[in-house]
Amino acid sequence: MNKPSAPKTNQAWGGRFNEPVDEFVARFTASVNFDQRFYRQDIQGSIAHAKMLCDAKVLTADERDQIINGLQEIETQIESGEFAWSVPLEDVHMNIEAALTDKIGIVGKKLHTGRSRNDQVATDIKLWLRDQIDLIAPILTRLQRGMIELAASEANTIMPGFTHLQTAQPVTFGHHLLAWNEMLERDYSRLQDCRQRLNQSPLGAAALAGTTYPINREYTAEALSFDKPTENSLDSVSDRDFAIEFCAFSSILMTHLSRMSEELVLWTSAQFQFINLPDRFCTGSSIMPQKKNPDVPELVRGKTGRVNGHLIALLTLMKSQPLAYNKDNQEDKEPLFDAVDTVSDCLRAFADMIPAIESRKDEMYEAARRGFSTATDLADYLVGKGIAFRDSHEIVGKSVAYGIAENKDLSEMSLEELQQFSSEISADVFDVLTLEGSVAARDHLGGTAPAQVSAAAVRALAKLDAR
Ligand code: ARG
Repeated sequence: MNKPSAPKTNQAWGGRFNEPVDEFVARFTASVNFDQRFYRQDIQGSIAHAKMLCDAKVLTADERDQIINGLQEIETQIESGEFAWSVPLEDVHMNIEAALTDKIGIVGKKLHTGRSRNDQVATDIKLWLRDQIDLIAPILTRLQRGMIELAASEANTIMPGFTHLQTAQPVTFGHHLLAWNEMLERDYSRLQDCRQRLNQSPLGAAALAGTTYPINREYTAEALSFDKPTENSLDSVSDRDFAIEFCAFSSILMTHLSRMSEELVLWTSAQFQFINLPDRFCTGSSIMPQKKNPDVPELVRGKTGRVNGHLIALLTLMKSQPLAYNKDNQEDKEPLFDAVDTVSDCLRAFADMIPAIESRKDEMYEAARRGFSTATDLADYLVGKGIAFRDSHEIVGKSVAYGIAENKDLSEMSLEELQQFSSEISADVFDVLTLEGSVAARDHLGGTAPAQVSAAAVRALAKLDAR
């Protein structure tokens, strides 16, 4: 005699269970508190799946329409805050499916035909991340545009260039800003690479092996604007490379923003005084009335740590997983969400702040004049007079030592003083010892000459326009 079956423990999978899931375990394994974030993509995927099932004659047109209307009503309810999310229903997928069944009855239970939460969740995260990438890309472009436009207007502004954070050679501020832009240009292309590689539809892989129904994976791929379906069902439900790639993009981007932040913090200090950041990007101190702190760049620099953490979290999450889906994968979401949020906020802060930078040209110029930044120019000048570079290096080294002792920059020495070190030096030396002469002489592709910087800014803007 059959035992009377125990009360169903879970609408979606309770059939083989004899007792309800432990209350703590239910909460521990649930993801609805965070995965409800991609309800829109879940519904979008379900609508595409229902249309495909109808096309494949698994659902009737009437059933398809009931499902689509029901899902659209649920979407409206969620958007207006009327939807009651339930933790016992575990995740966004089962919450929406249960609501659909409550709404339209037995037809709602047919939606999951030929599908599993495993291909469903993979599809949802890809759709969600793709949407986020398409929101992040324009912010990155706005930041680059502001940066390049500032660079163009600072093409003639002279500042010290540094190596080892010691004054090295004069450069233009515009050149420095365009160096930053190159970092961001690579970040943009990494972001687009990530988008392009993720854009294959896992839907139809079902739990892991595919499904016995006559599904049409090209149909759903196209309906969801994927380039094509993924090749292998096992890989489809277990692959999270796209999330790792996004976090890798994020880590590199944040590393760049952090380096820029470090320079902004240095440049706003009393010791450098190269730039002003408008008050709206700074905060004060509750005890020291004189303070104006560069909080925005400091915070961006600080947030780099958590984004790097998310990359490591995802790499570690995946490193030992056997094929195919494992519950571990539920842990992919929170790091990815926070990486997306952090990167979006930091980019927005930078896009607003960078165009508002005010350069302090006199202070930059004065700093470039100190520190013998034109010493290499003097060495190159002597090479032009027929002296071997190593010998000219030695001669200039001696004149720098003299300058340190006499507290004089090279350009402040008289011709007689300079001639103590080499009789090859003549009056034309002062053309190369000026800061203007020094930067103008580096007049080739990628060099710091103002004309090159202006031309580079035009090229950089043209790249943005072509996006
Ligand atoms: N909430 C789950 C996740 O985020 C959905 C997939 C569940 N699949 C399963 N076989 N338990 O990964």
